[in-house]
Amino acid sequence: MTGTVAPANSLEKGYLDYQVDPTLDLFEEIEKLKKEKNAVILAHYYQEPDIQDIADYIGDSLGLSQQAAKTDADIIVFAGVHFMAETAKILSPHKKVLLPDLNAGCSLADTCPADQFALFKQKYPDHTVIMYVNSTADIKAMSDIVCTSTNAVQIVESLPKDEKIIFGPDKNLGAYVAKKTGRDMVLWQGSCMVHEIFSLEKITKLKNRHPEAEFIAHPECEDAVLKLADYIGSTTGLLKYAINSPKKEFIVATESGIIHQMQKAAPDKVFIPAPPNNNCACNDCPHMKLNTLEKLYLCMKYELPEVKMDEELIKKAVKPIERMLEISAKYGL
Ligand code: 13P
Ligand code: SF4
Repeated sequence: MTGTVAPANSLEKGYLDYQVDPTLDLFEEIEKLKKEKNAVILAHYYQEPDIQDIADYIGDSLGLSQQAAKTDADIIVFAGVHFMAETAKILSPHKKVLLPDLNAGCSLADTCPADQFALFKQKYPDHTVIMYVNSTADIKAMSDIVCTSTNAVQIVESLPKDEKIIFGPDKNLGAYVAKKTGRDMVLWQGSCMVHEIFSLEKITKLKNRHPEAEFIAHPECEDAVLKLADYIGSTTGLLKYAINSPKKEFIVATESGIIHQMQKAAPDKVFIPAPPNNNCACNDCPHMKLNTLEKLYLCMKYELPEVKMDEELIKKAVKPIERMLEISAKYGL
């Protein structure tokens, strides 16, 4: 079924900038559109709570790729950022993949431009290239294996001990994995704006004020922050840890969207977002938060914006992603 037709210039801003009738119950309308169009909504934990609540699947980058690879829906509506929707398109090239706002990029992916990475790679011709999924399709196409924060350690460990490795684009995740595995890795020096601005000083003060709280952190955080952590893991890892820990209070160092699921799963526990180095109390990803319920509704109604990709690029980029999925399956991830 094709969507309601939008005017030709409708995507000038990267999203449909239409007025939505404020009396509409968007939850109901989105549910209707899902059924009508056989569409599935995949949402990352950093999306706003309303979007998480209407999603068919909420997860981390690995879970979202696994879902995108196996869904039998005709349309994948990706409530996340561009590299995630692109990964879904690479894994399901014959499906229509929609992203509510094409401007939803990623500061980390932006730190690794393809032309500069190609020159970097040339300096290490005998190295295996492992790239974090938070990268563009052009970068994935230059890689041997893709990884996420859930499987990075296992993917590195799946290689022979003497294998020379380039890891990118996140230098913090790379340093964490190198430390965990003891492998010698050449790191691309990229980082995420959200995970880099946690304040060590404010976290230390907060820990002192909440001595019973456990401090849990995403491996995209800097080493000095990770050194304070009781647990380090991907968003799914953090969520599972918080649910299963006998502790009642947690200071959470990652994008604050995850706290919605933590609070839903463990309503009797207290989750405190780790404070950043600015005047805000919590740390939102400006890219993830570009998606809104209104944009999600419009994108499903008009089937725009759609993520379109060159077929040759898909063919190259799918190999390292499939390798990641194969290795993850072997490790039961
Ligand atoms: P995960 O959800 O895979 O841990 O990734 C976090 C992230 O920064 C996504 O952009
Ligand atoms: Fe990218 Fe960081 Fe936002 Fe994740 S939180 S999408 S790594 S900018």
